[in-house]
Amino acid sequence: MSNNQPAKRRRLSDESVPRLREAELRKIQDLPVWEARKAVLEGICSNQVYVIVGETGSGKTTQIPKFLHQSRFGKSKIICTQPRRVAAIANATRVAKEMGCKLGGLVGYAVRFDDTSTHETKIRYVTDGLLLREAVADPLLQQYKVIIVDEAHERTLDTDALLGLLKRMQRLRKDEFHIVLMSATLDAGKYASFFPGAEIGLVQGRQHKVDVMYTKQAQESYLDAALTTVLQIHSKEAAGDILAFLTGQEEIDALCNLVKTRGAQTKGAHGQEKLQAVAIYAALPAEQQAQVFHPAPPGSRKVIFATNIAETALTIPGVRYVVDTGVVKQRSYQTGAGVDLLAVVPISKAQARQRSGRAGREAPGKTFRLYTEAEFEKLESSTTPEILRVNLAAAVLQLKALGISDIRAFDFVDQPPLPALVRALEHLHVLGALDTTGELSPCGQQMARLPVDPQYAKILLVAAASGCTEDAAAVVAMASVEQVFVNGRTEQQKQAATQAKQRFRRPQGDHLTALAVLRAFLATGKGKRGEWCVQNCISGRAMQRCHRIFQQLCTLLQAMKLPLERLGDTQDPEPLQRALVCGLFLHAACRQSDGTFKVIGTGQEVSIHPSSVLSGSKPECIVFNELVFTRRNYARTVCNIQMSWLIELVPTYFTKHIPR
Ligand code: CDP
Ligand code: MG
Repeated sequence: MSNNQPAKRRRLSDESVPRLREAELRKIQDLPVWEARKAVLEGICSNQVYVIVGETGSGKTTQIPKFLHQSRFGKSKIICTQPRRVAAIANATRVAKEMGCKLGGLVGYAVRFDDTSTHETKIRYVTDGLLLREAVADPLLQQYKVIIVDEAHERTLDTDALLGLLKRMQRLRKDEFHIVLMSATLDAGKYASFFPGAEIGLVQGRQHKVDVMYTKQAQESYLDAALTTVLQIHSKEAAGDILAFLTGQEEIDALCNLVKTRGAQTKGAHGQEKLQAVAIYAALPAEQQAQVFHPAPPGSRKVIFATNIAETALTIPGVRYVVDTGVVKQRSYQTGAGVDLLAVVPISKAQARQRSGRAGREAPGKTFRLYTEAEFEKLESSTTPEILRVNLAAAVLQLKALGISDIRAFDFVDQPPLPALVRALEHLHVLGALDTTGELSPCGQQMARLPVDPQYAKILLVAAASGCTEDAAAVVAMASVEQVFVNGRTEQQKQAATQAKQRFRRPQGDHLTALAVLRAFLATGKGKRGEWCVQNCISGRAMQRCHRIFQQLCTLLQAMKLPLERLGDTQDPEPLQRALVCGLFLHAACRQSDGTFKVIGTGQEVSIHPSSVLSGSKPECIVFNELVFTRRNYARTVCNIQMSWLIELVPTYFTKHIPR
């Protein structure tokens, strides 16, 4: 490791990576990919593009980069992309353990705001988004001889953009390099035919029988059903851990807490008295993720509450029971609306099968689908790729920064719908990222350098011009962590949480409240911050992550020669509110006579989310970070604004959509 690594990271790496025991190392060689080792290496070496398809858990992600490192590619850098940061971190940690090295030694990971890799690192796990950003500085990714795109079947927007870029690279790069695509499902023919001359290799998996159970009736609440089913499995079924799929942090934390109280009263079957609940979701800090892989203590059974991260991206050993709620939280673009909506939606049949498969990796298992067989039959056969359903502005900005000026002519695996592309271009134009000819403006170039969505990049740049960059960085950092205020479990705790929130509440809304929280956190002495978080019902983990992101954003803004200024404590926060309008104008809404709000550009009806500090108050006009759907459309993270600012600050957009 180089000497300039922060001390904290070094400590984490040292602690989290003890080498595996001999017996465990031998078990690795039983993974199905080890049988196919020679064929895999030959396939990669003799084809420029090689597609490896294999059952989840067969060892593709953890073993294939190692095989390559031990082959003639040993001297070159191998990069392996993952659609999610959690997967990049967990897999790098695992491989470092297997190879007996520290993170940031031979093996490392790099995700947004957290890079452990050093000049020593030969096997690098990164998010696909991070590799896209690296390509801005190194468009042909010359430093890599082997580029592995893992979980290609997930078809995230970043994966698809990356695949298009790799195809372009295939034409332009003259040296020897190899592209490896890895996927868990069989529709690999699609990517194979996208790359000229690509070959497909199959890794034969081992899958035990999994009994699939459906409910007799549709369930009113999948959360109640999940809790009941988990407790039933614990009290009736033979040894083996449980994996339950939920949709997000809030649900997962809530059920973990419920199991802690209710699980203690449920007697386990077969001598497994205790039920231990663990969580895994995207916003979980790296340090906490490792917990999920630890075996349950003797005499207890583990239940893992996970998002779809555990569907294919992560394999957690020991699971024999799967509880499938049949839903997933998904971002999608509403036709015509131009804004992404985050909503809980039914999964696809392919996802349901992947989830079931997780029960049968080590022994026969059981899956409890919390929906009826008739409901299963109605599911879509596979999930629509993101590129066909989300706002494309972020991807288009990245591609423009990579020098691809005609996005419509860019070769994607699935061509995005033209109206969606046009809308993304319009959005970027209004943000000032593109000039009238559609080329990246100087402002757009700066936006592309900032590792946040274009609307947040815009907020930072506008804030920089009005003396509040540091405050905007705090607001953006706080928006990158899911939840800061902890919801109490008991009535008393809930009350304490409400009071704590009230202490930080700012009448301008959640952004300013978040800023007040971060400022108060930073004003507390380092050694006292943990205690401060507990006293204020604030998640210490979320604050640490937020603090790290804040520091990195500040460093980057400084490197971009933007002044790091902040508003005085007693100063009117209007400059910051105005900066928010400039970035979030698609999410501007006005109050209607019935108390709900109407999104100005699209006419959608929304309400202020109950978690907002503005919930219950009556602002005339707002902007918000996110639109979420639970029973109805909710605006989450809301800022109070003046309607006159809209036309003044974003005339190109609002003269078309005149606020009423
Ligand atoms: O990529 P694929 O789904 O084919 O398999 P993998 O992720 O390489 O996982 C291979 C094995 O490594 C699994 O059986 C897991 O038990 C183990 N593993 C682990 O214990 N901890 C991790 N963080 C990742 C994998
Ligand atoms: Mg994998």
